Amino acid sequence: MTIERKHNFFAGPAVLPLEVVQAVQAELLSFKGMGTGLMESSHRSKQFDATWTHAQALMAELFGIPDTHEIMFLQGGASLQFLNVPLNLLPQGAKADYIDTGTWSKKAIKEAQRIGDTSVLWSGADIGYNRVPTPDEYQVRPDAAYLHYTTNNTIAGTQFHAEPVSGDVPLVADMSSDMLCCPRDVARHAVIYAGAQKNMGPSGVVIVIVDKGILERTKVDIPTYLNYRTHVGTIFNTPNTLGVFVIEKVLEWIESMGGLEAMHAHNKAKAALLYDAMDASPFWKPHATVESRSLMNITWRIADNDLEPKFIAEATAAGMLGLKGHRSVGGLRASTYNACPVASVQALVDFMKEFERVNG
Ligand SMILES: Cc1ncc(COP(=O)(O)O)c(C=O)c1O
Repeated sequence: MTIERKHNFFAGPAVLPLEVVQAVQAELLSFKGMGTGLMESSHRSKQFDATWTHAQALMAELFGIPDTHEIMFLQGGASLQFLNVPLNLLPQGAKADYIDTGTWSKKAIKEAQRIGDTSVLWSGADIGYNRVPTPDEYQVRPDAAYLHYTTNNTIAGTQFHAEPVSGDVPLVADMSSDMLCCPRDVARHAVIYAGAQKNMGPSGVVIVIVDKGILERTKVDIPTYLNYRTHVGTIFNTPNTLGVFVIEKVLEWIESMGGLEAMHAHNKAKAALLYDAMDASPFWKPHATVESRSLMNITWRIADNDLEPKFIAEATAAGMLGLKGHRSVGGLRASTYNACPVASVQALVDFMKEFERVNG
C-alpha cells in the first residue's frame, strides 16, 4: 500500500525523516525482537536501556556535550522548563537575566518572575520581534545566576546565529525549535532545554542538558520530579519510551547525514532558496531582518495581505501543509526543520512563483 506524504511545513509536531518513521513502524509490533511492541515493553528492559544509553551517547557526540553535563529525557514540555530552570537555578536572593525575543521568551520570563529577581535586558516587543539583539544592546549583570535566551523564535521567525555575550555568566537556552540544526557551544550553557517535537521526535519528551556543577549550588527543597538532581544518572520514573526511541533514530539519521556541520549546510541551503525567492520581488515581505533570519521558521507576508487566505488554500490543495502563520502574528510561515527535504522547499518556491504570476 502506498501512502501519500505531503510537503510538511508544520511548526511542530513536525516532519520526521521517512527512514525514522519506517524504523518506528517496524518496532511497534516487536521491539528489538522481544515479541512485544515498543509501546508495550518495560522501560526497565535491557532493550530499552540500550536505547536510552545510546540516545544519550549519540546526543553527546553529535552536539559536543562535555562530561560535565547530564542529558535528561523528561516530560512536561519546554513549558515546564520555563519554571524548572529558575526553580533549580535561582536560590533565594539570586538574580536572573532574560532576553525577550518573542512569545516563548515572555512565557519563560513570566515563570522566572514567580521565583526571583528577574531582569529583562532587552525586548523586541516594540519592533514586532523582527530581530534578535546585538551584544551592544544589552548588559548582563555580572552577579546574575544565568542569562536566558531563546535560540530560535518559532513564531516570529528569528534566530540567534551566535551565543549572546554574557561574560562569566552562564547561559540558559530554550532550543526547542532549532536544537541540532547547527553546532552550538554547549559548554557555555548551564542548561539547554528543548521540546523534541520540532527537530528531534514526537511531542511528550523534553531534552534537558544540565551542567552538574551548577546543581551543587542550587536549592534542595524542590519537589522531587522538578529537581534536576533527581534525574542525574538514572531513569527516575517511566519516561516516554516511544519518544526516546524516535530520538535515538533521529540522532542516527543525523549521524548518517554527516553530523551537525552537514545539517547546518543543508538548512542554510534550504533557507536561502526561500529567502532569495522572497527578496526577488516586492510581492513578498519577509518578516525578520536579514541578520536575524531563522533557518527553521521562515515568516513572511504577502504585500497585499488579503491574498494570504487564498495562498494558504491553494498551497494546501497543492499538497503543502502548515503554511499559515501563528495566530498571534498572522501571515505565512514555513517551518523547514532538519528533516524537511530540499524538494519540499523547492516545491514551495515554484508554487510561490506561479502564485505571483497569476495574482501579482
Ligand atoms: C521556542 C519554543 N519554546 C517553547 C515552546 C513550548 O514547548 P512545549 O509545547 O513543549 O511546552 C515552543 C513550542 O512551540 C517553542 O517553539
